[in-house]
Amino acid sequence: MDTAAKKTVLRLIPYGLYAVTVAHGGERNAFTANWLAQAAFEPPAVMVAVENDGRSIALIRAGGVFTVNIFGAGQRDLAGRLGRSFARDPRKLDGVAHHAGENGCPILDDALGFLECRVTGELSAGDHTVFVGEITAAGVLREGVGRVERRATRGAGTGPMGEGPDGSGIWRAASGG
Ligand SMILES: Cc1cc2nc3c(=O)[nH]c(=O)nc-3n(C[C@H](O)[C@H](O)[C@H](O)COP(=O)(O)O)c2cc1C
Repeated sequence: MDTAAKKTVLRLIPYGLYAVTVAHGGERNAFTANWLAQAAFEPPAVMVAVENDGRSIALIRAGGVFTVNIFGAGQRDLAGRLGRSFARDPRKLDGVAHHAGENGCPILDDALGFLECRVTGELSAGDHTVFVGEITAAGVLREGVGRVERRATRGAGTGPMGEGPDGSGIWRAASGG
């Protein structure tokens, strides 16, 4: 494989920016996600790739639900904060206005809108697991434009969305390729 080409071509894929929220048994969490898309019209469904070694995957499996919150264009700082791992910041949602949706997962009050989902499938994909979620409820919270990121790469990171030298750690999503 031409790894340079792989990197270059992957960076041509545009991504949205979302906060996926999860809850089970009184515990709740949120993480920033790029790797998310609609998966079906009928029944309406989305798919999201979730890190195997984070906290959220256990809550998604245990609770069988998740909610997709759409970040607005001006919410990059919040995306950076929620992009930390639970291990690094177990109280990511502190100070972030939210309320529980019908499926029990947090809905971020400042999101553009949300999709509540019920897990209907999962597929192992290496260091991530792809979950399919049937949409069970949806809401528009405010008008606005969602973020489109032109590349998403992972790095060790010094800042909330920073990139580090060794390819591990938090994610970086940057406009401008
Ligand atoms: C811009 C950006 C995009 C990210 N995209 C994903 C993603 O698509 N899937 C994922 O599991 N983690 C993604 N992450 C990492 C998560 O936000 C989070 O750090 C990780 O899932 C572990 O969090 P947890 O331990 O709270 O579950 C992204 C982070 C950032 C900053």
